Amino acid sequence: MEFKRYTVTAALPYANGPLHIGHIAGAYLPADLYVRYLRMRGRDVVFICGSDEHGAAITLRAKKEGITPKEIIDKYDAVIRQTFERFGISFDIYHRTSEPIHHETSQQIFLRLHERGEFTEQVSEQYFDEAFQQFLADRYITGTCPVCGNPSAYGDQCEKCGSSLSPTDLISPVSTLSGQPPVLKQTRHWYLPLDKYQPWLETWLLEGKKGIWKHNVYGQCSSWLKEGLQPRAMTRDLDWGVDVPLPDAEGKKLYVWMDAPIGYISATRQLFTELESGEYRFATPRRSFQQPRAEDWHRYWKDPETRLLHFIGKDNIVFHCIIFPAILHAHGEYLVPDNVPANEFLNLEGDKMSTSRNYAVWLHEYLEEFPGKEDVLRYALCSILPEQKDSDFTWKDFQARNNSELADILGNYINRVISLTRKYCGGIAPGWTGTVDSDTTGALHQQVSALVAETGEALEQFRFREALQAFMNIARAGNKYLTDAEPWKKAKTAPDAVPSILHASLQVVAKLGLLARVFLPHTAQRIDALLNADGSGYAWDDLLRNELLPAGHALTSADPLPLLFEKIDDSLIERQLHKLHPPVNPQPEPAPESAAPAAAPPEPAKPEISYEDFQRIDIRIGTILEAQRVPKADKLLQFKVDTGLDVRTILSGVAQYFTPEEMVGKQVPVLINLKPRTIRGIESQGMILFPEDPKGLHLMLPVDPVDPGAIVK
Ligand code: 2FM
Ligand code: ZN
Repeated sequence: MEFKRYTVTAALPYANGPLHIGHIAGAYLPADLYVRYLRMRGRDVVFICGSDEHGAAITLRAKKEGITPKEIIDKYDAVIRQTFERFGISFDIYHRTSEPIHHETSQQIFLRLHERGEFTEQVSEQYFDEAFQQFLADRYITGTCPVCGNPSAYGDQCEKCGSSLSPTDLISPVSTLSGQPPVLKQTRHWYLPLDKYQPWLETWLLEGKKGIWKHNVYGQCSSWLKEGLQPRAMTRDLDWGVDVPLPDAEGKKLYVWMDAPIGYISATRQLFTELESGEYRFATPRRSFQQPRAEDWHRYWKDPETRLLHFIGKDNIVFHCIIFPAILHAHGEYLVPDNVPANEFLNLEGDKMSTSRNYAVWLHEYLEEFPGKEDVLRYALCSILPEQKDSDFTWKDFQARNNSELADILGNYINRVISLTRKYCGGIAPGWTGTVDSDTTGALHQQVSALVAETGEALEQFRFREALQAFMNIARAGNKYLTDAEPWKKAKTAPDAVPSILHASLQVVAKLGLLARVFLPHTAQRIDALLNADGSGYAWDDLLRNELLPAGHALTSADPLPLLFEKIDDSLIERQLHKLHPPVNPQPEPAPESAAPAAAPPEPAKPEISYEDFQRIDIRIGTILEAQRVPKADKLLQFKVDTGLDVRTILSGVAQYFTPEEMVGKQVPVLINLKPRTIRGIESQGMILFPEDPKGLHLMLPVDPVDPGAIVK
């Protein structure tokens, strides 16, 4: 079906940390590519995103750091916003769920569902932390996973075996706030009866989207539906979030997964309010809107001729394909998504990215270390997007994509065409004189048109890797034509042919410049500068014209001609690898002549000790009750550990590997008879033991939960 307009959303990132390449590859780059393409096609599209500023992760972090949630979200909203802007992720609006219009919108939707009798009210027993006098969100409780025995499973999920849990499933639960076992207390909540919507979901999704949605997305949804849906609480006992708008609901907030996706709607409302009032945040709107009015947002969410698309990573599938559609359906006035082209995960150098281990490529760091190379990362990520299955980012591949593809193929081709035009035509675009083999040139035009069509088709179907390939194949075709036509030789043997060859080549360059607006927006501007042209006035259909750059048009006069892409040398790549895997004991730099880098040698064994020596060592399993950072000591964490004999304070230099939050509740081996040491004025009464390898420190947890104080021997 032909749609009249598009509402494209990209998952709202939590404003509690910076972004890494996995985020960009999961949702934002594909969404941006698609929207840029739609805009070139002249389609009516709004591109919506913003910060997700509620949820347990934010409050938990604020509590642990002794600051307010507002301080956290303000900090990271600014960091994230800037990162997106610099990578050219071209949202029409980047909003915030802490804004009043969002609270109002989510409350309206909640109330409407309430008035229609959609919710069921249920009293249940939930965990309560008596020391902190509060009910505990699922993430505030850790304990042993009943499925795999992982002693640090969360109340909603075990990250080790992937089981989805409820807090009462956990064995030996502990509150992450006080470190104490929580008690069960009755509380009342509003539940969305997902079981009631199951038949509708089966028709709409299982029947309606079969063979249309991506396999990875459809498969996950159908297994949720096969398991059978259960009612799910849409409210929480929390002190941060959107208030439940009912008189008898003091202290209750909306569940973050109810309010966050509604954030897309409130952002759209905000966008049209700003457009109408002329207070639009971006200096230049991403596209022109004809006399926008505040109420126009309704069309983008309610008119069946609008195509609603959610770009997300695979961990968000159930929320966008089942729960949010159920809410929208229950409301009765809204559209449900036409497609949810979710991506799988991106790994890094063969390993899962991990915030707690600081194992990631952080975008704000990349921007500092690779200034002006935003498009290189866009390109490298687009080439390996985890579209059907998880994929792997490696720094060597990144370097090769830049050096052998962007620099050697795209950049080199464009620079060659412009230099040759300077050399043989004085920097002025020549016209077609027909004095060259017109079959070959005709074949070039045909080939380029076919590749443009292939690029468009792949973009339409969310096959971004393939689209990028087709785009690069245009540069390859142009390169081959130039190499075969040899204008530098013809300049001597058939000089009349040279202008025609360069005419044809410049048209290819102009098309690459236009298409780069989708994939490589910064490069598109650089190509515009080289051509002394403004590609923004052109649309997709112009790509099918044979002549884009007319005869007589003067190209840039910059001298020397700037390179579009510079090569990235090994030392910069080595530095990135080094950051990911800092050597445990820095070894002296190998002598320059030493060839391939050898793996770090194992540390030599220590001198032999007697059994008696060993018996003097007292290692017990302790449970970490509390964990916090030590002010002004970046590397240190301070723990309160229950050793079975006593509760003691222990300092460890592990802050770069673990967050305080994840350590609470963990069972760890502790050397308890080490002479106390005072570090930064705090007495450390023992040592927690961690295995260390070149990747850093890891946790050593008992496979079976044991009583605190169990002796390790
Ligand atoms: O997983 C996340 O990062 C969530 N903050 C995504 C929310 S998407 C939408 F629902 F807002
Ligand atoms: Zn488990």
